[in-house]
Amino acid sequence: MADFHHTPLDRFIADADKALRVIAGVASASRPNPGLRSDDGQLSEAEQRHSAGLMRVNHVGEVCAQALYNSQGRFAKTAAMRAQFEQAGREEEDHLAWTAQRLNELGSHTSVLNPLFYAGAYALGTVAAVLGDARSLGFVVETERQVEAHLASHLDKLPPQDAKSRAIVEQMRIDEIEHGAAAQALGAAQTPAPVQAVMSVMGKIMTGTAYYI
Ligand SMILES: [Fe+2]
Ligand SMILES: [Fe+2]
Repeated sequence: MADFHHTPLDRFIADADKALRVIAGVASASRPNPGLRSDDGQLSEAEQRHSAGLMRVNHVGEVCAQALYNSQGRFAKTAAMRAQFEQAGREEEDHLAWTAQRLNELGSHTSVLNPLFYAGAYALGTVAAVLGDARSLGFVVETERQVEAHLASHLDKLPPQDAKSRAIVEQMRIDEIEHGAAAQALGAAQTPAPVQAVMSVMGKIMTGTAYYI
């Protein structure tokens, strides 16, 4: 879509529409859910609740990913960067749909805080974007690095027999590593250590609350 042909109001409506779709849980995957290839393992009630908490955290992470890629893509200066953000954004939408589907299978729900997380991430992405393409790409690299580490920790925490959740998390992890590498290849600047630390604290607050609500 050539944004320069649209008025700010058009853009605002397009962004608001995307935001509402994400918050309402209307996500369509372009690839099949990796969990479909796995057998449903027997989970105790406590394990099922634990898996649901972890997958709700991952779903919130993907809500934030949508907000970040939408806001950062909005202000990207080059066509190459916009194309990469669109491609990554599509894969993040797969993640959003897969985690929502798994939550549903686990008899649970997405986070009630999603609108808040979306708004916060959108604001953050906008700040990163106005600092310029190199810094914006650097922010993507650091975000994907932290998400990848977080997903790896979930592979330790998920019940071993929850093969469906594990298959989803494993594929997400592969994709996030690629997103980070692609952003790096486009000329990312190093994110300053204090910013990295703030991002990490924000991530902890997000994961700490989304596990429960
Ligand atoms: Fe993702
Ligand atoms: Fe990603």
